[in-house]
Amino acid sequence: MVGVCFWVFNIIFMINSCFAKPKDCPEVCSCLGTYVDCGSNKFNTIPSNIPKWATHLNLQNNSIKKITDVNWKHFSELKELILNKNNIVSIPKDVLQYQTQLKILELNRNKLKVIDALTFKSLQHLSTLKLKRNQITELKDGAFYGLTRIDKLILDFNHLKVISKIWLYGLESLKELSISHNYINHIDLDAWEFCRTLFILDLSFNSLESVEADTFKNLGFLQKLSLNNNNITYIKDDAFAHLPRLKVLNLSNNKIWWTVEDANGVFQGLSDLVKFHLSGNKIKSINADAFVGLKNVTYLNLGNNNITSIQNNAFSEVPLLKNTNLYS
Ligand SMILES: *[C@@H]1O[C@H](CO)[C@@H](O)[C@H](O)[C@H]1NC(C)=O
Ligand SMILES: *[C@@H]1O[C@H](CO)[C@@H](O)[C@H](O)[C@H]1NC(C)=O
Ligand SMILES: *[C@@H]1O[C@H](CO)[C@@H](O)[C@H](O)[C@H]1NC(C)=O
Ligand SMILES: *[C@@H]1O[C@H](CO)[C@@H](O)[C@H](O)[C@H]1NC(C)=O
Ligand SMILES: *[C@@H]1O[C@H](CO)[C@@H](O)[C@H](O)[C@H]1NC(C)=O
Repeated sequence: MVGVCFWVFNIIFMINSCFAKPKDCPEVCSCLGTYVDCGSNKFNTIPSNIPKWATHLNLQNNSIKKITDVNWKHFSELKELILNKNNIVSIPKDVLQYQTQLKILELNRNKLKVIDALTFKSLQHLSTLKLKRNQITELKDGAFYGLTRIDKLILDFNHLKVISKIWLYGLESLKELSISHNYINHIDLDAWEFCRTLFILDLSFNSLESVEADTFKNLGFLQKLSLNNNNITYIKDDAFAHLPRLKVLNLSNNKIWWTVEDANGVFQGLSDLVKFHLSGNKIKSINADAFVGLKNVTYLNLGNNNITSIQNNAFSEVPLLKNTNLYS
């Protein structure tokens, strides 16, 4: 009996010491290696006793209002900082100046309204910045300047109206930009001058009304463009000639019936395009030249239109077409 108790005691002791928190792990948080998880804790402020060795810090789903509660100088090892779902209203300029190792910064679901110039100036290793579901109405000139290695910038569900190069300034390595569900109704004609390496651009669920000749100028590497659920009625001839490597184009749920019914070769230049979504555009007929130049398209979705006539040869311009959805 004594032996059994001894072994039970020993095993509990062993389990405890294997999974014990490092002694400087904050009381209500959990720590594993250098990961510190203080999520879902009702914190109003960032706890001051976060260990200095933390490389990954999760503060998601608390009630933190200010990012300046702690002296960030002590947390220079951070590679990942997750602050989603708090009440943060602003990020003072360069507050994270010591976080030069930071790769991932997430601030989704906060109350940010403005991003000031040079806010992220020192985050030279940052690769992902998420600012989804805030109330951002304004990105000041140079808001993202200094993010020299950024890959992915997520701004969905905010209140942005304009895309311009002055706030895109410095995003030279950006690959993915997502600004769906905003109020974008204007794209400056030289907007993309500083982010020529974009691969993925999501502008769906905005208020764009037209695609001008230079709306997508300088995006020669773009592979996926989502423009679905805007208000686009007009596309200038050759507007897509700037996108020779585009593989997926989503124009569903706009109003471009006119473009498909009357215009000639408006999609010319999209020679690499493989998938083309045009559903929900009130298209009634398809002009013989509507799809001129779409040599590589294998999938074309024309569903949820009201197509009653298709001119002869309209689809002979799309030689590789395998899958056309005309009616559903
Ligand atoms: C957020 O935290 C609260 C406790 O503060 C918890 O009850 C809730 O489940 C958490 N929500 C999520 C999505 O983690
Ligand atoms: C689309 O345009 C119509 C008028 O042209 C306007 O009434 C409507 O609010 C616009 N919708 C969006 C989402 O901008
Ligand atoms: C294109 O947009 C439609 C309409 O919102 C959506 O249902 C579909 O999933 C989108 N497809 C792609 C590939 O983005
Ligand atoms: C079309 O697709 C093929 C195979 O994916 C690719 O090799 C080619 O470069 C593409 N573009 C054109 C213009 O044929
Ligand atoms: C197609 O036309 C019919 C009859 O005019 C109309 O009832 C229907 O709503 C239209 N569908 C679309 C997707 O526009």
